[in-house]
Amino acid sequence: MSLEIARVPLEAADDFYRAHEREALRSFYDFAVVWHEQRHTSLAREGSTTVGAATIRIAASLAEIERIVVDPASRRRGAGRALLADAEEIANYYNCHKMTALVPHRGAAQAFFEACGYHPEAVLPQHTFKLDMALVRKFLL
Ligand SMILES: CC(C)(COP(=O)(O)OP(=O)(O)OC[C@H]1O[C@@H](n2cnc3c(N)ncnc32)[C@H](O)[C@@H]1OP(=O)(O)O)[C@@H](O)C(=O)NCCC(=O)NCCS
Repeated sequence: MSLEIARVPLEAADDFYRAHEREALRSFYDFAVVWHEQRHTSLAREGSTTVGAATIRIAASLAEIERIVVDPASRRRGAGRALLADAEEIANYYNCHKMTALVPHRGAAQAFFEACGYHPEAVLPQHTFKLDMALVRKFLL
């Protein structure tokens, strides 16, 4: 029979992925894997006002900062650092050995993460929007 490739809505592959997930992960990592993925969000509040938020994604002993945003009017007052510290505490609780973030190379976000103890681990040339992006990381355990 000849092979055909069909473009389909995302969920059309759900059953196929589910059926093959365990074997595919074992094949990919070369050991038995139980995949468990979770997201956590923390807010920074001043009274009833939210001044910042951070969301991390945890999977495979790794925590990634998906988003961290502080209201421009409240920046440089420690909210970002406090949100990051809380995210690290959550990641630690779930036994993540490392937290990472992908940020524009040598931009303000990289300066923020470095001030919070993160180090550049790799630079991905011409990546997001064709910008060089730095993967910054902090070991937690
Ligand atoms: C990055 C961001 C979350 C930082 O939040 P923040 O509350 O201003 O950060 P903090 O006040 O806790 O800053 C901690 C330290 O980081 C460094 N820092 C923070 N913002 C910086 C900037 N724009 N330029 C250089 N260094 C910076 C400073 O050393 C700062 O300490 P200091 O103010 O005593 O000098 C905020 O600027 C933001 O929301 N930016 C837009 C979204 C973004 O880039 N998110 C990150 C990628 S997911």
